[in-house]
Amino acid sequence: MKDFSQRLIEWQKHHGRHGLPWQQTRDPYSVWLSEIMLQQTQVSSVIPYYQRFLARFPDISTLAAASQDEVLAHWSGLGYYARGRNLHRAAQVVVAQHGGIFPSDPEWVVALPGIGRSTAAAILAFSFGQRRAILDGNVKRVLARCFGIAGYPGTKAVENRLWHQADALLPESGIEIYTQALMDLGATVCTRKPSCDDCPLGSVCVAYNEKRVAELPEPKPR
Ligand code: ADE
Repeated sequence: MKDFSQRLIEWQKHHGRHGLPWQQTRDPYSVWLSEIMLQQTQVSSVIPYYQRFLARFPDISTLAAASQDEVLAHWSGLGYYARGRNLHRAAQVVVAQHGGIFPSDPEWVVALPGIGRSTAAAILAFSFGQRRAILDGNVKRVLARCFGIAGYPGTKAVENRLWHQADALLPESGIEIYTQALMDLGATVCTRKPSCDDCPLGSVCVAYNEKRVAELPEPKPR
């Protein structure tokens, strides 16, 4: 749907987040590191960790050669240490199987420890400009509301519908700004207590227009 992506892209220019350290690079390793750190941690907390990590482990080969203890020491305070362990293991896989060069083939990227379909898509969009859909928790909320997708998004059936919708919405060009826009809208406007007055999708949002914003996405059935 062209309208959806164009509205988001226009919104991003003025209201999205700009100037974040990982937005200044297309280096796949740096983008990958940022996406892993941002999975369960806020932008403001990630920034200093991201910078310290890259200063000590500037490339995949350096990370692969480091000890797990040292890698985890640089993760210390961020939490969810499985992320750090997976990143370290994945760096060793990239060295062993891809000569230390981060792969651009999505099949290879999702095969790496700690990288799921959505994270792979984000890395490939931001570093190689590949036209791929993301679908993290925030994006599920945006799409469930905008398209009135009922059901708990934690089920396979609902998740499949959301992926289908996410794929259908991709713009022909501008994938980087569009992907960032979707992330930023979900993080700052279409939150659990959304600011619909500030939303560029208000006029097209099913949940907003049917006054069902509080009911979507549906919670886990109990
Ligand atoms: N959350 C996940 N990825 C992000 C990104 N690239 N920018 C801001 N927040 C994010």
